[in-house]
Amino acid sequence: MAEEAVLGFLQTKEHISDSHEFAASIGVSHTELENLIKSLKGFQIVDAQEITRESWVLTEEGKTYMVNGSPEALFFSAIPPEGISRSNLKEKLGAEIFDLGSKAAAKNKWITFEKDLVKRKVESVQDEVKNVLARINSGEAVGDQVINDLKRRKLIIKQTWKGYSLKKGPKYVSKRKKPETDLTREHIVSGDWKNLEFKEYNLNAEAPQIQAGYLHSLLEVREQIQNIFLEMGFEEMPTNNFVESSFWNFDALFQPQQHPARDSHDTFFLETPASTQNLPEDYLGRVKLVHESGGYGSKGYGYDWKREEAEKNLLRTHTTAVSTRMLYALAQQDTFTPKRYYSIDRVFRNEAVDRTHLAEFHQIEGLICDRGLTLGDLIGVLEDFFSRLGMSKLRFKPAYNPYTEPSMEIFSYHDGLQKWVEVGNSGMFRPEMLLPMGLPEDVNVIAWGLSLERPTMILYGISNIRDLFGPKVDFNLIKSNPICRLGL
Ligand code: PHE
Repeated sequence: MAEEAVLGFLQTKEHISDSHEFAASIGVSHTELENLIKSLKGFQIVDAQEITRESWVLTEEGKTYMVNGSPEALFFSAIPPEGISRSNLKEKLGAEIFDLGSKAAAKNKWITFEKDLVKRKVESVQDEVKNVLARINSGEAVGDQVINDLKRRKLIIKQTWKGYSLKKGPKYVSKRKKPETDLTREHIVSGDWKNLEFKEYNLNAEAPQIQAGYLHSLLEVREQIQNIFLEMGFEEMPTNNFVESSFWNFDALFQPQQHPARDSHDTFFLETPASTQNLPEDYLGRVKLVHESGGYGSKGYGYDWKREEAEKNLLRTHTTAVSTRMLYALAQQDTFTPKRYYSIDRVFRNEAVDRTHLAEFHQIEGLICDRGLTLGDLIGVLEDFFSRLGMSKLRFKPAYNPYTEPSMEIFSYHDGLQKWVEVGNSGMFRPEMLLPMGLPEDVNVIAWGLSLERPTMILYGISNIRDLFGPKVDFNLIKSNPICRLGL
């Protein structure tokens, strides 16, 4: 509408001298007209010159006088023909109008003071101040003297307007064609593209936010790690049992029953069902024996192994429980086949929750089961695996696990943090664990485990684990997290 008015006006008239007046005349806001002018100017349809214009506007006080009359006129009108005492008049008018009005009315020689009495000096007066304020308010020009008086009395102030004067530009048209946004097959076939104006690409425009599902950062990193395992020829183990028996979680791993990790301070035990009925009897017998008196070249722990302890149900404390079940299943096959297995899933520990610990987290675990494997193989596989994660500087430190010998903690040099950080735990499963399962004697298992949270926190620069996992996670963080690419 405004565009038609501007272009139409310029068709017959030389220029629009003041955009403010023009906006008022066509009934649009100056802001709206200004936006239009900028767009028309951009296309060189109009030439726009910035102008500044000054005008006087009424102050709040000025507006009150325009409506109610000036204090001096009010003062005059309040005086009866016979006069009135100062105090009565003051009471009638209020102190403020009385003070302002008495001065101005006296200056105008409208009134006289006779002792305590105020009297009219003329018969009638014209409220010029009220009249001139109304004229200024409607945009009329008034003389300098009057302006100066009103300015001094703070009844008007100067306002500066920025506006434009307009004339036709080099590409002036009386009606603007709407530019096409797409070149279609129809345009090409009909040939009408030759006469069309196309909208230019705005390469700085931001793409709209896609409202879709978002992967949690842990899932993004998990997928990357999963891909690494798959590239290295590993198969995924079924980890869909959070509840496990102590037997598979501890006993089968040659972890003695009085080991501190088996205390309720460290492990969540189940109340219902509190115990497991189904355990493989033969195997259970061999596990009992190896704990009590050893065998397979071992002395065992020399204690009285209790079935009730092995039957206790718990929330698995590591995914190595799953690895153990898988190795046992492998041992039950007629002929041994080498395997590479991995899993990434949740585990539970009765830990005090702090910035870096939760009572549940995710473990990444990998294992290779084959004949004649050595510690050298383990180191080689770890170097391959971790370099794919972007960690190629590794160091190993001797460690202890009840189920591995030798055992090694894995450290990686973090360039960002400028220090060695522990990234995992590893080892070769003990004969006391593998031989009771029935695996051939020359079969070894090399294995390692790490948490999913630790690398995710390092990758995404998160220092408090509660910002990553749990009810306090900011959903916007999940939405705006960059794509995860490991090892680049
Ligand atoms: N189960 C170990 C842990 O919870 C990780 C591990 C897996 C260690 C395999 C050695 C071998 O930390």
